[in-house]
Amino acid sequence: MVYAIVKFGDPVLEREAETVTEFDTPELHQFLEDMFESMYVAKGVGLAAPQIGVSKKIAVIDCSNGENPEEKLVLINPRIVKVEGRQEGEEGCLSIPGFREQVRRGRRVTVRAQDAHGVEFVKTGEDLLARALLHETDHLYGKLYITHISVLKRDLMKRKIKKKQRAGDWD
Ligand code: NI
Repeated sequence: MVYAIVKFGDPVLEREAETVTEFDTPELHQFLEDMFESMYVAKGVGLAAPQIGVSKKIAVIDCSNGENPEEKLVLINPRIVKVEGRQEGEEGCLSIPGFREQVRRGRRVTVRAQDAHGVEFVKTGEDLLARALLHETDHLYGKLYITHISVLKRDLMKRKIKKKQRAGDWD
């Protein structure tokens, strides 16, 4: 099933999600499948559960856009454990459609997380994957990428979004 993406303004996006304690259930496996499907339909490289209204520490990433099954990544209860180097680049978010901003991120990032079976693993990614690991993990702590841009740019973006909301162009 394809979920609708929750947009900026919904409080679920700005609160810390709940830690997952049950693994390997049919519901969790189905949910993960649905998350990948929803992400592909929305044409994103990452999706966090709060973005579909589910406040749990679950995220999926696929930097190959569904081209390479080996790049499918499930992150449950992830924590960033190492950030090295620096990259500048444009970033967007499925929950803030129509906007993109330059965001400085680490270039090489290591995350510790659990998989669908509850097994802990460590994953290191560079460049786009590093950016996605940071962006999606942030989501699970209620943090959006716009917290990494200047106050001036963020306020301008929020004003534009308010305009869209008033015009009924946001939900
Ligand atoms: Ni996002």
